[in-house]
Amino acid sequence: MQTVVLKDPPPSATNTGLLGDLRAFAHDRLPLLVQWAQADAPILRLRFAWATQYVISAPEYVQQVLQGNHRNYIKEQTFMRTVRLAAGPARENLFTSDGKDWLYRRRLMQPAFHRRCIEGYTQHMVNETSKLLQRWERLPAHSTIEVRSAMTDVTMEVISLCMLGTDLQRAHEQMKRIFKASSDFVISHSSALIKWPLAVPTPTNRRLNQAMEAITTLLTELIEQRRQALASGAEPEFLIDMLLLSHDEETGQGFSDDELRAELGGIIFAGHETTASALSWTFHLLAQNPAAEAQLHAEVDRVLQGRAPTLADLPQLQYTSQVFQEALRIYPPAWITSRQALNADQFGDYGLPAGAQVLLNIYGIHHNPAYWEQPEQFRPERFAPDQLSKQVKHTYLPFATGPRKCIGDTFAQTEAQIILAMIAQRYRLRRRDDTPVAADVGFIMQPKGGLPMQLEPR
Ligand code: HEM
Repeated sequence: MQTVVLKDPPPSATNTGLLGDLRAFAHDRLPLLVQWAQADAPILRLRFAWATQYVISAPEYVQQVLQGNHRNYIKEQTFMRTVRLAAGPARENLFTSDGKDWLYRRRLMQPAFHRRCIEGYTQHMVNETSKLLQRWERLPAHSTIEVRSAMTDVTMEVISLCMLGTDLQRAHEQMKRIFKASSDFVISHSSALIKWPLAVPTPTNRRLNQAMEAITTLLTELIEQRRQALASGAEPEFLIDMLLLSHDEETGQGFSDDELRAELGGIIFAGHETTASALSWTFHLLAQNPAAEAQLHAEVDRVLQGRAPTLADLPQLQYTSQVFQEALRIYPPAWITSRQALNADQFGDYGLPAGAQVLLNIYGIHHNPAYWEQPEQFRPERFAPDQLSKQVKHTYLPFATGPRKCIGDTFAQTEAQIILAMIAQRYRLRRRDDTPVAADVGFIMQPKGGLPMQLEPR
């Protein structure tokens, strides 16, 4: 397989000067992703200052990278070097690792995400949402709440209860600050032209180092508690137990404490920020689409008759699930992902050189009118069971695809269905005005500056 000449990206007014496409991409990502997805070529070459990257927007070629020829691709290394710094001294976890190391971790952790385990988690999801609703009930009527932060509270509680067997109540605000410092670091470090080592006290480095110290203390305590519980005969129940009890078959070695912290920190982060963000966008979309909101209310009222959902109700809450799926299409928290080619690869007429850095244009595919009629419109009907066969393959990628597909996809969808249904039973969430909500398109896509909304009891 040999490299052939790649087409240039479509001409862009900003694609001039030393920085190439970098300036435009740094400032106005979403329209560019949509534009690139609709360009004539399914794969485009971009120039980011002195680096070349390739953006792939054809669903079948995204599938080739993530599934068909996945062995030829590892996580994109420039970005991963930054993410690894934020993972602490062990550097690697399920999200950052590749090859044999990744496979070992994935096989070890997969059972914690089997349907049977998720069924056990639903009670935590219901309980934590009930607590949120009780807090809201104590507020004066029509109070304004910050939805993003409220969703983060619930999803963080749920993930720590399900994975660590403990709530983080005490350390909640601290955890939020830690994760904010880590994602700010990842964004600014990965896009910086000069990447200062962590020892250099730049403001973002300092905040990351402080966050690392704080999370080390916190997780060390949790790990020790769980280790002692297992030593005194507690049944292994949680993801943390699987990690504590694991031994590499070849070397007989278990995870070091640094490795455990990197894995647990990663799973708590990946397991709550994305879902919280997607739920926030869902409430924003519902407020803008009263007909869909009314249909959601009708469904939760009919199925639940005023009580909390149980596991058995979830299949009946079909429209609720469709609402979340459609929100994930319009605002995919993981709006892009990246890989690096080990060897050259071929995409139809176009060749990709060995070592190439590849961006997979999830947002652009979700907004391409060739696959989604009127893609900017919120239409949960697209995900009705009888419509699914009409979807073009690999055009819906909120959780990516292939062997590295999100390990928490069912967890996230179950949790979102429960939270959405329980809130919709009691409240309408309304914006105070119609000013557009901008997207903060960083590590994950979230409403910029949070999402204040008014609680209207139903
Ligand atoms: C709406 C919520 C979520 C979205 C949109 C989402 C999206 C994604 C995507 C797109 C990937 C693939 C990234 C890549 O390989 O390039 C991924 C991976 C991952 N996600 Fe999620 N995720 C969500 C929720 C969760 C939850 C709830 C958990 C854990 C409980 C989780 C844990 C992970 C982990 C550990 C990986 C790395 C898996 C691997 O490489 O084997 N995610 N997620």
